[in-house]
Amino acid sequence: LKSQPTVFVIFGGTGDLNARKLAPALYNLYLEGWMPDHFAFIGTGRTKLTDNDFRVRVTGDVNKFSRSGQVKDEQWQSFAPNIYYQPADVQDAETYKEFGKKIKALEKEWKAPANVIYYLAVAPNFFPIIAENLAKAGLTEDAGCTRIVIEKPFGHDLASAKELNLLLGRIFQEKQIYRIDHYLGKETVQNIMAFRFANAIMEPLWNRNSIEHVQISVTEQLGVGDRLGYYDGSGALRDMIQNHLLQLLCIVAMEPPVSFSAEEVRNRKVDVLRAMRRFTPDTVREQAVRGQYASGWMEGQQVPGYREEPGANPHSNTETFAAVKFFVDNWRWQGVPFYLRTGKRLHRSASVITIQFKDVPHLIFSPETAETMRQNRLVISIQPEMSIRLQVQAKRPGVDMMLNTVDMVFDYKGTYQSEAPEAYETLLLDVMLGDQTLFMRADQVEEAWDLVMPILTSWQTRTSQNFPNYSADSWGPEDAEALVAKDGFHWFTLPLNGKK
Ligand code: BG6
Repeated sequence: LKSQPTVFVIFGGTGDLNARKLAPALYNLYLEGWMPDHFAFIGTGRTKLTDNDFRVRVTGDVNKFSRSGQVKDEQWQSFAPNIYYQPADVQDAETYKEFGKKIKALEKEWKAPANVIYYLAVAPNFFPIIAENLAKAGLTEDAGCTRIVIEKPFGHDLASAKELNLLLGRIFQEKQIYRIDHYLGKETVQNIMAFRFANAIMEPLWNRNSIEHVQISVTEQLGVGDRLGYYDGSGALRDMIQNHLLQLLCIVAMEPPVSFSAEEVRNRKVDVLRAMRRFTPDTVREQAVRGQYASGWMEGQQVPGYREEPGANPHSNTETFAAVKFFVDNWRWQGVPFYLRTGKRLHRSASVITIQFKDVPHLIFSPETAETMRQNRLVISIQPEMSIRLQVQAKRPGVDMMLNTVDMVFDYKGTYQSEAPEAYETLLLDVMLGDQTLFMRADQVEEAWDLVMPILTSWQTRTSQNFPNYSADSWGPEDAEALVAKDGFHWFTLPLNGKK
């Protein structure tokens, strides 16, 4: 399963995404034998560099960021000559001709036509100009083997997302457009589909008859870091919920697709977004909570509040935490709440999906006996722990009948010796192979925006004086606890290394 000869053109070749993710991913794919026999990786940026300068730079990046550690001399010697650099001003249509020439020269050398992948690792305001200039230079004509990859944000709201889709749609066919949501490339996220659709025992339970509620929680210890420029215009709802968390929800809630093919899977996922109950200003007030981190201490280090971050607007209303209760109005899920929460500077970094099943219909044990008994839960831990746990009740050893909750665990570390690939490795290979299953289709992006728009609109009107904040190293604002507590639940966290 290898793709045909491939040229990657990476716009933003000198940027952070290439350094941290793309270059290490391509190298690891190479090490594991997934790269085609002929490939080239052309970085491009405004900086004037030679091929050799760029190779030296990429060597440093891979050494620093690759999961496989320092490059191995022999393999690197054979990988590095495939790296090229082409200085370019993306605004200047003329410079695109150089890409054309370079690609032709490579094809001639390889004596074979190549797939060409344009990877836009640049700020989204450059997407239109790059797409248009590629088209002008005649570089997008062969729809069979030309692909474009873009990273979120796909628009800032519904209107701008539609505009971007229209613009790309004028130049590329949908089958050429790869919109990355890196969560979909995570090993544990892909495994949810395997778990649901390769095991018969789950399906009869996977609905409103057995499931009481679902939680999807993606918490991070890190603050906004050096991404304030982007983040302040975005916020947690746009940055995480509109894309990553709603995609997780879709995978949990989707109907079984007819086959594991890109269109079938994406059709079933977009069905979920379409079925999701739309918000009114009243339900936004009742079902959506936000917050912003204040200063505090994290693991012995004093950390600034969001408004005190270097360069921050001291009156910023940008939320760094969001929790929302959603409903999916269809036969399978009617009445089952889906609670989603995400935030920065929280007590722990963990991405976990918890499916809580209904209580036993009748308790035959005495209340004292069942003291420590809980409802069944299926806990899908995406990161850092990679596991699936089914929490069940068991009899504690002893002469009396005492119950407690135990975990039946599938843990990646204990089960598999090999390390899981990085999301970008999976996703870049899929782009090379032309498999769009794990990528966002235009309609999915728009439905997700449509769903969150009323929340964004309501939040825009609230002033900074009464903005709810939370201290660093907490689990977010109190309102987030109240959101689930008023329905009789609490947020579930996996006990980790003894840390609560
Ligand atoms: C990105 C967001 O898409 O996902 C970041 O822009 C966030 O704000 C990141 O930190 C989280 O990804 P991961 O893979 O570290 O969970």
